Amino acid sequence: MTRSQIIEKLSLSEPVSLKNLYAEANAVKTSTIGNKVYLRGLIEFSNICGKNCYYCGIRRENQALKRYELSDEEVLAAVDFAWKNRYGSVVLQSGEQQSARFTSRITRLLHKIKAYTNNELGITLSCGEQAAAIYREWFTAGAHRYLLRIETSNRELFYKLHPNDDKHSFDARLDAIGQLRAEGYQVGTGVMIGLPFQTVEHLADDLLFFQSMNIDMVGMGPYLEHSQTPLYQHRRHLLPPEKRFELSLKMVATLRLLMPDINIAATTALQVLHPEGREMAVLAGANIIMPNMTLPEHRSYYQIYEHKPDINDDATVSKSKLEQYLRDAGITVGYGEWGDSQHFHHER
Ligand code: 5AD
Ligand code: SF4
Repeated sequence: MTRSQIIEKLSLSEPVSLKNLYAEANAVKTSTIGNKVYLRGLIEFSNICGKNCYYCGIRRENQALKRYELSDEEVLAAVDFAWKNRYGSVVLQSGEQQSARFTSRITRLLHKIKAYTNNELGITLSCGEQAAAIYREWFTAGAHRYLLRIETSNRELFYKLHPNDDKHSFDARLDAIGQLRAEGYQVGTGVMIGLPFQTVEHLADDLLFFQSMNIDMVGMGPYLEHSQTPLYQHRRHLLPPEKRFELSLKMVATLRLLMPDINIAATTALQVLHPEGREMAVLAGANIIMPNMTLPEHRSYYQIYEHKPDINDDATVSKSKLEQYLRDAGITVGYGEWGDSQHFHHER
């Protein structure tokens, strides 16, 4: 697909054309990687973060927030839930900390999780930018997939969303993605959709960026304004929520047409703008859902954006609602499977 063809798809607005785009993407998914959805239990194990991204509610300078870090026992309780319920894998996600205490703790957790589940549970990490040696240590300890969003592939826009300092370097982020590949991970990245200052051309370039980086997995969702962040002041320039939602679905569908064999997540942010947003994304080409396993007492502190769903649900409730919907839509869940990116295996 050319850049202008991508822009054309992202600019569709007629209900019939949208319906056709989603259906086409779903058909490409089904014929390439099948119609299964894989579940990853999401464990937000710490909201402590050394970064100051302008859009994010858990940024370092937000002091209106209690900081927490789960104990090993609490992480293992969430792991136990995911494993017993035959989720094939978990995602360990946190704010970014670069201390030796933090990185060795993750190594220890990886060993514990692998031992606890007889090596059965797949583990994805989402713990930010780290030195290549740390990525290697974690890979050796059992992590095999890593998520690190580029947030936007446009350098200029990147610096409207982040302070321009060595803690928030566009080039360092690009390098980190390359290092993760070199260390052997399946690599996931992603962007936010509907950001202030963002154009449909930027988004088309994001999709082409995923393709040129030969990425294995993508997670992207609508930008959601958070009142305790600097970017909030630009909220008047945002697309209305329903348009941001629609644009996100178009991004998912167009990416599926562009990269038929990768894993694409139906993200939680979609669910904020529509109660069945994740399920709709699955029917528009996504194949991964990450139910939140974080314990209710900690969830309210992991508000990267406001109105994050399921704050008062426990993992069991959100799981059963989700499964019911998927069943009703005729979608199979890949229980007990890691659900690796087929792209990764095709490429290597
Ligand atoms: N709206 C939407 N997504 C956000 N993220 C952080 N803050 C927001 C927000 N306000 C996303 C970023 C980050 C991921 C963990 O959450 O893309 O990489
Ligand atoms: Fe920290 Fe990630 Fe939020 Fe940036 S987006 S402030 S790195 S948790």
